[in-house]
Amino acid sequence: MTPDDRRAIKRQSPHVYLNPENLEGARLLPDRLALLDVLPKNGVVAEIGVAFGDFTREIIKRNEPSKIHLVDVWSSERYKAGLAAIESEHSELIDSGSMVVNTGLSTEILPIFEDGLFDWIYIDTDHSYLTTWAELLIANEKVKADGFIAGHDFCVGNVITPWPYGVVEACTKFCVEYGWKFAYLTVEPNGHDSFALRRL
Ligand SMILES: C[S@@+](CC[C@H](N)C(=O)[O-])C[C@H]1O[C@@H](n2cnc3c(N)ncnc32)[C@H](O)[C@@H]1O
Repeated sequence: MTPDDRRAIKRQSPHVYLNPENLEGARLLPDRLALLDVLPKNGVVAEIGVAFGDFTREIIKRNEPSKIHLVDVWSSERYKAGLAAIESEHSELIDSGSMVVNTGLSTEILPIFEDGLFDWIYIDTDHSYLTTWAELLIANEKVKADGFIAGHDFCVGNVITPWPYGVVEACTKFCVEYGWKFAYLTVEPNGHDSFALRRL
């Protein structure tokens, strides 16, 4: 990706400033495992962007969901072996119906779920502004009235690759325009923070 490509991607991302109400009562946490510890237990949850299931394992251990939906396209060379790994590791949960594996794009799978189904969802897909914005709009319909929309990589990009992200821009615009606020934000040593939003 050239510097011009990176600038073009960043130009897709609007800058909307939060109002005080969008931050009222927000709590900082040290990492995303601590975030799981404050998200509801025994609920109906979804992880959107699963890869090899490293975080799935933590969700199951810490939150003991009554049902967990996994959503991932599992199409890239880097991640495609993740699907078989998940199906092998969690065969018992899958057979019992406590885990459902959904293969496809987040923006195609998420709309299929009934409205108000999820206690919380955790978004961790491509982190672009356009994808994240689309995911937030769908999640707005699919999460319960008192539910959370959480996700990874609340940061401006990957500085090693380098690759611009749009999660910050999508979340701030979403909170202001759709009446949500930050409930939790992690402050990770690597700067790849996680967020959890809830309705105002
Ligand atoms: C960073 S990895 C997820 C890591 C995982 N949540 C964890 O913490 O262990 C990103 C995953 O999102 C998937 N992905 C990327 N874009 C997607 C999209 N638009 N819809 C569904 N899955 C997507 C990739 O296939 C990949 O497995």
